[in-house]
Amino acid sequence: MNPQPKPPALGILGSGRGSNFEAIAAAIAAGRLDARVACVISDVPDALILERARRAGIPALHVDPAPFKTKLEGAAEMRVVELLRAHAVELVVLAGFMRIIKTGLLSAYAGRIINIHPSLLPAFPGLEAWRQALAYGVQVTGCTVHFVDAGVDTGRIILQRAVPVLPDDTPESLHARIQEQEHQAYPAAIARLLAGGLPAACRQ
Ligand code: GRF
Repeated sequence: MNPQPKPPALGILGSGRGSNFEAIAAAIAAGRLDARVACVISDVPDALILERARRAGIPALHVDPAPFKTKLEGAAEMRVVELLRAHAVELVVLAGFMRIIKTGLLSAYAGRIINIHPSLLPAFPGLEAWRQALAYGVQVTGCTVHFVDAGVDTGRIILQRAVPVLPDDTPESLHARIQEQEHQAYPAAIARLLAGGLPAACRQ
């Protein structure tokens, strides 16, 4: 009998708390997402996402992004591609990764890099989108899972979830309500993508 094919390998990149990583790992553990997290990579050595990955027994890898402040390029970018390939990653999942992705990684994983953003894109791209939404006065915001391209939060949309803005919301309360939806939306979007089949080059 042929052995069961391994579930598709995700490589997660994050700079912060890693609550979306946890939601993805929980969906896998609960059988709602047929995938495996092959590695977690961070540009921040003491990021909680790395600690969470270690606790889950997942390879937790730090890549020094120097000399760049806001982008992933040069030696660090090459190292990330090398690590993703070494772990046979098929889909790159950005989860709170605070750097702009440049051509090296984009072309190594063309059409296979996704991100989650805390607004209904194309509204409020960039930093702290929940603060932008509050300042603008919108009554509905949300989260968006999208493909990553060379722009900032501009790639093709995969899935969105709406979140109401309440009259007494603070930036913190609104961000928390958006994150609840992110934790549902990200695993669901990944499951949908994988069910539809990744580009052929993706299966290594
Ligand atoms: C999320 O709000 C996500 O939309 C944004 O960064 C945050 C990451 O949170 N891109 P966490 O590290 O997954 O908790």
